[in-house]
Amino acid sequence: MDEINKNKAAWNLIAKDHYHTFKKKLAEMETIINDNILNELGDIKNKTLIHLQCNTGADTISLSKRGLKKAVGVDLANENIFYANKLKNDFKMNNLSFIESNVLELDGKIKEKFDIVFTSEGVLGWLPDLKKWARVVKSLLKEDGFFYVYDSHPILHIWDEVKLTQKEFVIKYDYFNASADKGMEIGGYASEVKRGENYWWNHSLSDIINALIEAGLRIEYLHEFDTLFWNNGGMKEVGRTLFQYEGLENKFPMSYSIKAVHKK
Ligand SMILES: C[S@@+](CC[C@H](N)C(=O)[O-])C[C@H]1O[C@@H](n2cnc3c(N)ncnc32)[C@H](O)[C@@H]1O
Repeated sequence: MDEINKNKAAWNLIAKDHYHTFKKKLAEMETIINDNILNELGDIKNKTLIHLQCNTGADTISLSKRGLKKAVGVDLANENIFYANKLKNDFKMNNLSFIESNVLELDGKIKEKFDIVFTSEGVLGWLPDLKKWARVVKSLLKEDGFFYVYDSHPILHIWDEVKLTQKEFVIKYDYFNASADKGMEIGGYASEVKRGENYWWNHSLSDIINALIEAGLRIEYLHEFDTLFWNNGGMKEVGRTLFQYEGLENKFPMSYSIKAVHKK
């Protein structure tokens, strides 16, 4: 699919910058995972985990440091995998490996099943087909394991992004059945913004939930948060890598999490 190839090329452009940014953060911080995620994941010691859309593997490393038995990171962009392996060596991590693949083409490529299938922070919008994605998630999950996603809320992506930085709410994008949105810039949160054609699909919350249910998973919870994992402009930091608009507390959701298990 042409859009996926464009996305791969765009993410490759900022992989090196991400490597340097995350290397510094990993050296300075005990963990780079925010507390919303850490609280919900709970104790992950001795578990096996597969991290979908792992970027340069920084979060995979931070999660591994919490005592995982084994972790595997998967990402579309070959440059991300190259730098993920570099980070792994920099921090002398064992029991950690990275695989270059489109998540939607993982089905059958990895025979192993994991205690935790994990994906977070800027992920589902890069995938055109959530039904396929949910089947991949299920195929990777042990019978007694769990799936966990923490991502930006689809309602956040309906607003005009420029006006939103001034706390003005003008609807610009569709919430339901949104077609691919073509962007011409990539990065900004851990790199300079670079020019690179890319495609994003906003999926409604019901589409996300129903894809997981149709794949044969049972939803344990859906949580919504009025905080975001990047500074969208003029936000205050309210926790480690968590941001909020002053005066807009409780007004609308900016991120969400879902935990799901096999339907028994
Ligand atoms: C915003 S980043 C996710 C960062 C993540 N929070 C982390 O752990 O650092 C989105 C990632 O999704 C990857 N990606 C985009 N489309 C993909 C696909 N079809 N299959 C696998 N990875 C994909 C990109 O290469 C990029 O690294």
